Amino acid sequence: MQQKIIILDFGSQTTQLIGRRVRELDTFCEILPYNKFPKDDPSVIGVILSGSPFSVYDTEAFKIDLSEIRGKYPVLGICYGAQFMSYTLGGNVEPAGTREYGRANLASFDKENPLFRGFEENSQVWMSHGDTITKLPANFKVIASTDKVENAAYQAEGEQLWGVQFHPEVFHSVQGTLLLENFVVGICGSRQDWSAASFVDSTVAQLKEQLGNDRVILGLSGGVDSSVAAVLLNKAIGSNLTCIFVDHGMLRKNEFRNVLHDYECLGLNVIGVDASEKFFKDLEGVTDPEQKRKIIGRDFVEVFDAEARKITDARWLAQGTIYPDRIESLNITGKTIKSHHNVGGLPEEMNLRLCEPLQWLFKDEVRRVGRQMGMPEHLITRHPFPGPGLAVRILGDITPEKVRVLQDADDIFIQGLRDWGLYDQVWQAGVILLPVKSVGVMGDERTYERAVALRAVTSTDAMTADWAHLPYDFMAKVSNDIINKVKGVNRVCYDISSKPPSTIEWE
Ligand code: XMP
Repeated sequence: MQQKIIILDFGSQTTQLIGRRVRELDTFCEILPYNKFPKDDPSVIGVILSGSPFSVYDTEAFKIDLSEIRGKYPVLGICYGAQFMSYTLGGNVEPAGTREYGRANLASFDKENPLFRGFEENSQVWMSHGDTITKLPANFKVIASTDKVENAAYQAEGEQLWGVQFHPEVFHSVQGTLLLENFVVGICGSRQDWSAASFVDSTVAQLKEQLGNDRVILGLSGGVDSSVAAVLLNKAIGSNLTCIFVDHGMLRKNEFRNVLHDYECLGLNVIGVDASEKFFKDLEGVTDPEQKRKIIGRDFVEVFDAEARKITDARWLAQGTIYPDRIESLNITGKTIKSHHNVGGLPEEMNLRLCEPLQWLFKDEVRRVGRQMGMPEHLITRHPFPGPGLAVRILGDITPEKVRVLQDADDIFIQGLRDWGLYDQVWQAGVILLPVKSVGVMGDERTYERAVALRAVTSTDAMTADWAHLPYDFMAKVSNDIINKVKGVNRVCYDISSKPPSTIEWE
């Protein structure tokens, strides 16, 4: 049975990071809302309580019944999690004289305690709290202190229950991963058998059992997630999987052909649908960004649906949904900020059940799984690309001619990044076609042509991004190539805005 650690989310911004760290220890974990502990799940080997934006004494603070987990599993409380257990079991938590944010050092700690096995003296930890545990419950003992915080870590005597005031999951807690390893492996007894290989084996077996001889449809986008999902399903059910790849006419240069070829080489059963004419016709003269997106979304569903209905005995719709798409993060009102994204409006009467084999994976794990299955590296490391494609990079109305200009400029930029070894250093890159013309001179001729902007950003999750500091020599070469080779463009700019306040795409 697959062992798992449960992380109860009390709303901290670092809860997902705890999950990442546990997975890095080759241990499966699930992040669940604080009040959704799965009773009677025999695969649970330990529980971690996250931090929270609340103070334990706030009336609206998130509370749980500790008897569900105490004495039944090893428990580790982090920050609010530690304060909550201490407070609820008879201790005292008060606002700290000075809020403590940033680096601190464990001036003293209990070397014999299994949580600190292998720890070095004065280890740096990361603090981020406004409250402090001023008194521990009677049977709790202090196992670590900093200069400012006496009860920086504790254990309930004779119990498998620990709390730490600092954040072991963040990078700046130098031995944080060791602390989590001591808990997850040393204390909870993880076998550390969660790996890309074990994931592929167990998921293929599960999919075989779940899908039997049913037919499955999957929408391919050319991106990493849907491609990995397709290869995984292909391994499980082979020709019972039909993939549909729609060309809306605003993909990158030659992308439809190249990606279709890649998919065929992977042995996938793919139907490529060139619907570009329909999209261009429906988009004619439309300039409003939201309107453009709506038309593309609607047309996509129509085209996909028409194709999918031809497979009359299909029972399932597979999607490449990944874990960050699903995690229900809590905001301070307790409402979910992000809920499970759904099938994007496919007609209900199709009556298809949903199959999401990557729903527990983080992005880098999806890539590891893809590599494990031997997928080509260029498919696995592809930059993210928006669903509506180049449509969100053409400001103003969309015409096939503008798309061609943009495709050519984009191709020079992206190929240049690859040639200069810069492609993997940026999160995402592309070119934007601006709705302005400016004067230039080519040979003896005056020109009056379009301007384009290059956009390249560094990021880890697209929520925030910085403009990539690309070498001047590279930008000079790309600019030169675009102006010389792409007819219709005589000026190239570089977008040096970060997100926020700007966004990655211009529309
Ligand atoms: P922004 O522009 O909001 O983009 O900073 C963040 C990330 O999302 C991508 N993006 C989209 N992806 N459909 C998609 O599938 C869309 O409509 C869409 N709009 C933006 C964008 O490329 C970036 O990776």
